[in-house]
Amino acid sequence: MITLTINGKKVKAKEETTLLEICRKMSISIPTLCYHPDLAPHGSCRLCTVEVSENGKARMVTSCNFPAREGIKVETHSDQVIQARRILVELLLARCPQVPFIQDLARELGVEKTPFKTENPENNCILCGLCVRTCNEIVGADAIGFSHRGTRKKIGTPFEIDSEQCLACGACEYICPTGAVRMEMDRIRKIKRSDTGTLRYCRYMRLGLVDFMVCSNGFECWRCEVDQAMEDRFGTHPAFAVKPAKNKHPLQVNGFTFFPELFYSEEHLWARPMDGNIQLGFDDLVSTFAMEADSIRLPPPGTVLKKRQVLAEITAAGKTARVLSPFTGTVSVINRDVEESPSLAWRDPYRRGWLLILQPEPPDQISRLYSGEPAKTWFTKQAANLATLFMKWAPKPSKKEESQDGQLIRTIVRRHWDKLAEVLLSH
Ligand code: SF4
Ligand code: SF4
Ligand code: FES
Repeated sequence: MITLTINGKKVKAKEETTLLEICRKMSISIPTLCYHPDLAPHGSCRLCTVEVSENGKARMVTSCNFPAREGIKVETHSDQVIQARRILVELLLARCPQVPFIQDLARELGVEKTPFKTENPENNCILCGLCVRTCNEIVGADAIGFSHRGTRKKIGTPFEIDSEQCLACGACEYICPTGAVRMEMDRIRKIKRSDTGTLRYCRYMRLGLVDFMVCSNGFECWRCEVDQAMEDRFGTHPAFAVKPAKNKHPLQVNGFTFFPELFYSEEHLWARPMDGNIQLGFDDLVSTFAMEADSIRLPPPGTVLKKRQVLAEITAAGKTARVLSPFTGTVSVINRDVEESPSLAWRDPYRRGWLLILQPEPPDQISRLYSGEPAKTWFTKQAANLATLFMKWAPKPSKKEESQDGQLIRTIVRRHWDKLAEVLLSH
């Protein structure tokens, strides 16, 4: 424990606790904009500014990310602090003059008007980054980010095109303090069509909260009983309650990606249990076949698949690799996006590149697969073997090849397709 002084009062705190956390415990009110207790502090809005004196020197710091230190003196409402917050609010008011949240904040700080010029009175985004961090740290989708610089800086999807990575979960809309994020239903319906082209998976399925559900409300969640039930159950946006991103941290093993929470089969498929069903996809090793695939064929829904029958057929430049099923069961859904865009199974094999959902018969077959530490041990060995082969087969790269990400692997896969299939797919 350390001792510091806040507004003339000595307090004890754990080292590394932020000043904001300590102040909140002491019921000292400090305005914040970019801070959220579930997100890593960002320190971008600077509204939480306080004055810290240390070794006889005073300076302004952002309390949301400034860790408590032995002996420091903190003033949360000195004249300089209030003045600094007022200027910040005047800038925000000039940026977003019509946002009620900002207007309220200005009133609280006694700011009636701003001396700064308003460029675009319609602008609602204060660039606090809450939506971006929510999408990244809570949802794990990484669908949006900042783009441009200076006065042109804004929030959006990469290259400003509709993002396939977006789950349409609405967590960004929920967290935005100014109402700048709006879910555009028509665009979401278009992006999130499912295998039939008309069905749409529920956003809670995409978040991993329900196993399998198709939206029958055209993504108008406010009309949906399930949505209401979720809100009642969690009392917040469900993404914040379950934080799907925490299970989505992949490991890099000998240059290949491994998701610890999944099951893995000798056939190089990952499997995710879904309350009676099993979702399947290529692991990162076998997904290399899909790098330049012309097609990936999957058995149509309704097919009864026997263990060791062909589950996926990958074809590239006249060569075919067949991946066998580790289970017996009935195919309930296939990922048409992978059929339409086969390289998705390589670009994002564990998420958007999933292959199909199977209803296993008998039900408990997944427990035979590798999971936990044995899965990691098995995957590590397989990845090491493949990495060794890739090194052995690697041609001397030309300058052009070196500069192109993945080009060497492409060349190897093309030249050694049969051997690779023998190593990975014949057991
Ligand atoms: S809807 Fe969800 S996945 Fe899409 S950008 Fe917002 S937080 Fe990210
Ligand atoms: S859209 Fe909303 S949450 Fe995102 S940066 Fe702008 S104001 Fe913040
Ligand atoms: S809340 Fe601390 S910088 Fe925004």
